[in-house]
Amino acid sequence: MTGSRRWTLARYPAGKLAESDFALLADGGEPPALQPGEVQVRNRMFAVAPTIRNWLRPASGWHRAAVPLGGAIRGMAACEVVASADPGFAVGTRMIAMSEWADRSVIRPAQAPVPVFQMPEGMDFAEAMGPLSLNSLTAYFGLLEVGRPRAGETVVVSGAAGSVGSVVCQIARITGCRVIGIAGGAEKCARVLAVGKADAAIDYRADDVGQRLRELCPGGIDIFFDNVGGDQLRAALGCMAPHGRIVACGQISTYDRGEAAETGLDMMKVVYGRIRIEGFVVGDYVGRAEEARKVLAAWVRSGDLEVSVDLRSGLEALPRALVDLFSGANRGTVLVVND
Ligand SMILES: NC(=O)c1ccc[n+]([C@@H]2O[C@H](COP(=O)([O-])OP(=O)(O)OC[C@H]3O[C@@H](n4cnc5c(N)ncnc54)[C@H](OP(=O)(O)O)[C@@H]3O)[C@@H](O)[C@H]2O)c1
Repeated sequence: MTGSRRWTLARYPAGKLAESDFALLADGGEPPALQPGEVQVRNRMFAVAPTIRNWLRPASGWHRAAVPLGGAIRGMAACEVVASADPGFAVGTRMIAMSEWADRSVIRPAQAPVPVFQMPEGMDFAEAMGPLSLNSLTAYFGLLEVGRPRAGETVVVSGAAGSVGSVVCQIARITGCRVIGIAGGAEKCARVLAVGKADAAIDYRADDVGQRLRELCPGGIDIFFDNVGGDQLRAALGCMAPHGRIVACGQISTYDRGEAAETGLDMMKVVYGRIRIEGFVVGDYVGRAEEARKVLAAWVRSGDLEVSVDLRSGLEALPRALVDLFSGANRGTVLVVND
C-alpha cells in the first residue's frame, strides 16, 4: 500500500526479546483492490500486549497466531475504515480489531480472529483502548467469572501494577475483598496501593514472596489471580486457603523461553487443598463484552476505577513498547498512537 510502513519479524527472538528482532518495511506501489468482505483501515492506536511475544516463534500446536519470519506483527488496534468492500463496515467506521503493526492494513471483519468491535458514537479511541479495553474485560471476567470472589475473601494479584492486574485489584476491592498486589520495585508497589487501592503490596524483587504471603494471609489466599507464573505462582500455591481458586490469566515470566516452562507445582497441595486452577482467555467472553463495558464505564464515572495509560507516540515506538513490558518499564496500559 502506498506510503504504508509495516513492522515485520526479522528473526525469531533468542530468549530475551530485543528491538532488533523487528524490521520496519515500507510498502511501495498501489494498494491492492479489495476483495468482497475486505476493508482497508488506517491503524490509529495500538494496544501493546505481552502475548504478542508468544506469537514470535515457529508455529506449534497451541500458538495459533504464530508469525512467520518476514511476516507482519499483529496486535489489537483502534482503526478507521478508509476503503470498504464489506457493506457492514462503511468508510469512516471506527473499530477495535486485530490488525497489523502498520500504518494501513486490510482486514476481513467477518473472519477476524477476535470479533471486531464497532465503536459507538461518543466513544473515543483512548476510552475504547484504555478503561474499556480487552485488558479491562480480561480483569472483569477473569476475576468475577473464573475467580468468583465473595465479600471478605482475600485476593492476591501478581503483575498487580500492570494493565490487567491493576484493574483486577480495583474490582476485587469493589467486590468487598481484601487485596494484596505483587509487583516489581518500590515505585510499582506504591502504584498498587495508590491506583489499585490494594490493602498491601509485596515487592517481589526485594521481598521473600512466600514469607510475605504467609504473614499477610494468615487465613490463606482465597483467590490468586496470576499474570506472572513461575516463582510467584509456586509461592501462592503454598499459601492457598482450602477451596481456593487460582485464575491462570498469564505467565509473563515464562514468555521469553522458547518452550513451555516446567511449573514445579506441588500438585498434592492442589489435591489436599481442593484448589481449582482454571485458565481462560478473554475471547471466551466477547459475547458479553457490552455488559462488561457498561459496568466498567459506570465504575470509571463513579471514581471506583482508574486505568493508567502509558502513551507512546509513532509507529516506530512499537518494538520498544513491547520490549518494555518484559523489563517492567511500562507504567500501566501501553498504547501507541499513530497519527
Ligand atoms: N488470558 C487472557 O485472555 C489475557 C488477556 C490479556 C492479558 N493476559 C495476560 O495478563 C498478563 C498481564 O498483561 P498486561 O497487558 O496487563 O501487561 P502489564 O502487566 O501491564 O505489563 C507486564 C508486566 O509484567 C511484569 N513482568 C514482566 N516480566 C516479568 C517477569 N519475568 N517476572 C515477573 N513479572 C514480570 C512487569 O511488571 P513488574 O514491573 O511489576 O515486574 C511488567 O510491567 C500477561 O501475562 C498477559 O499475557 C491474558
